[in-house]
Amino acid sequence: MPEVARPAADTLAAGGKRVRPLLVFCSAPQDRVESEAVLSAAASVELVHMATLVHDDLIDGATMRRGRPTVAAAEGAEVAVQAGDFLFARAFAELTRTGSAAAVQTLAGAALDLSMGEMDQNRAAHDLDLAERDYLDRCRRKTAALFSCACRLGALVAGSPDEAAERLGAFGQNVGMAFQIFDDILDLAGAPEVTGKRRGTDLMDGTVTLPVILALREEPALRPLLAAARSEDDVATLCDRLAAHAGLAQARERALGFVDDARRALEGPLGGADRDALRLIADSLVDRYA
Ligand code: IPE
Ligand code: IPE
Ligand code: MG
Ligand code: MG
Repeated sequence: MPEVARPAADTLAAGGKRVRPLLVFCSAPQDRVESEAVLSAAASVELVHMATLVHDDLIDGATMRRGRPTVAAAEGAEVAVQAGDFLFARAFAELTRTGSAAAVQTLAGAALDLSMGEMDQNRAAHDLDLAERDYLDRCRRKTAALFSCACRLGALVAGSPDEAAERLGAFGQNVGMAFQIFDDILDLAGAPEVTGKRRGTDLMDGTVTLPVILALREEPALRPLLAAARSEDDVATLCDRLAAHAGLAQARERALGFVDDARRALEGPLGGADRDALRLIADSLVDRYA
């Protein structure tokens, strides 16, 4: 194995939920799930996801991922950049096996959205006045775009009608929004043994998320505490406080609203996709470790 592939292979071996390939499989017509094209699409989406995780951990200064040290923490920035680039390249090489230019365009569009979402986040770091609308736009780019792409690709590479792909894309978009909001909740309230990530990574790095925006709206007195939280102890205390805050419960309600929208998007013909499994995925994303 070339040296650049090793950290990428380790990231794969570390596991993860594999939600995005699951969405590809469930969105494909069920008599075509095992076709080469659907398998390539599923692999390519997970590879793009892993590429963004490796780069994201470098950008976010994250130390834990999938229960182990991040590539950036264990091997440094250069290796993380190279491993992420390698994963991006492998993703697109895999997808070209489908012979579908439209599929490659769809994945490229999602990767572009993702990079812009990460840039939005960087620009908004430490901005405690971040508007809810801007937070949601960022989630749309950073996370929902790839979820939507996963669902579209399952339909597209297996030859489903365009209107089915549209519905599935809208479903994925809404599921992705709920997923990111809940991930942001878990950053404050999720036990590292189950999330595989450290609590408070967003606070530490100045990433302002929906539970924080809503908590601040309820209790502006939190502002100086958030602005001053630097040490691990400060961050742990703040996580505990925010995890018990009404703002967090409100953020969870917002996530559940996106789950409802996702379910509604599935009304109408889906070209043979597995509607029941998709509903089950949508319902199990929020409170996923409860
Ligand atoms: C983490 O995604 C990045 C987000 C969009 C929140 P996952 O929570 O799907 O990560 P893995 O693949 O299970 O590790
Ligand atoms: C999602 O945001 C990152 C990507 C889209 C790669 P986060 O930064 O919240 O994801 P985690 O918490 O590091 O997994
Ligand atoms: Mg991150
Ligand atoms: Mg997160």
